[in-house]
Amino acid sequence: MLKQINDTIAYLESNITNTPEIGIILGTGLGELVNEIQVVHSIDYSNIPNFPVSTVEGHEGRLIFGTLNGKNIVAMQGRFHYYEGYSMKEVTFPVRIMKSLGVTHLFLSNASGGLNPDFEIGDIMCITDHINLFPENPLRGENYAELGPRFLDMSQPYDNSLIEHAITLAASNAIKVHRGIYAGVSGPTFETPAEYRYIRSLGADAVGMSTVPEVIVARHMGVKTFGVSVITDSGVPGEIVEISHEDVQNAAAQVAPRLRILMKQLVKQTS
Ligand code: HPA
Repeated sequence: MLKQINDTIAYLESNITNTPEIGIILGTGLGELVNEIQVVHSIDYSNIPNFPVSTVEGHEGRLIFGTLNGKNIVAMQGRFHYYEGYSMKEVTFPVRIMKSLGVTHLFLSNASGGLNPDFEIGDIMCITDHINLFPENPLRGENYAELGPRFLDMSQPYDNSLIEHAITLAASNAIKVHRGIYAGVSGPTFETPAEYRYIRSLGADAVGMSTVPEVIVARHMGVKTFGVSVITDSGVPGEIVEISHEDVQNAAAQVAPRLRILMKQLVKQTS
């Protein structure tokens, strides 16, 4: 893994001119936020050594280097999901690369099902904590002390000061946000009503199929994280209706303008 990281970094560093401080991973339906970035370099995943190979036909993936509100950033246009068949190591490899390029903060967004009855479809939830319900952990296996500790502290998985900044920014822009706990599951099935009830009973406010692996690896490498869930459907008893991926994408797209304001302003304040 160390050699793979070094080879990938050598390739990227010979192709880019700026050092990114902030990494951004955008979730389902929220990819258009990359349009806010002043793009300096855009590199197809297929050209990046050791990046996972896309198995999904027509799947676009690019690493975008540029500036957002004056900050040097690197953004993933297209993320790797565990449900696509990638290993946990593959899903999280880009996070290791972002950190090795110089990233100190990672911002993530995802689409998720709402479990807290106070949430409505189209709401934004700042993630304060998570529950890993994936069948594995990306840190299982040999640990490289150069990258991080064998036994990782997870007492503050999402950075409290970024959460407070985001809540303040949301208020000043009249954007409603909640705080809550995100449960990460493997998918690709959406939950049955009994599964939504079960995950709620564990203490989660929202459930989705990403973010947890990337955040674990970011924390392993000392990167501060900020995550938001966009509530795209309801897993609350009595509110559950049939949903499709298109429903999730459409609901997420409705929230994108608000999320864009929040992310842009938060990036500016981050140092
Ligand atoms: N469950 C899991 N993942 C999701 C959901 C959901 O209801 N909505 C969007 N991603």
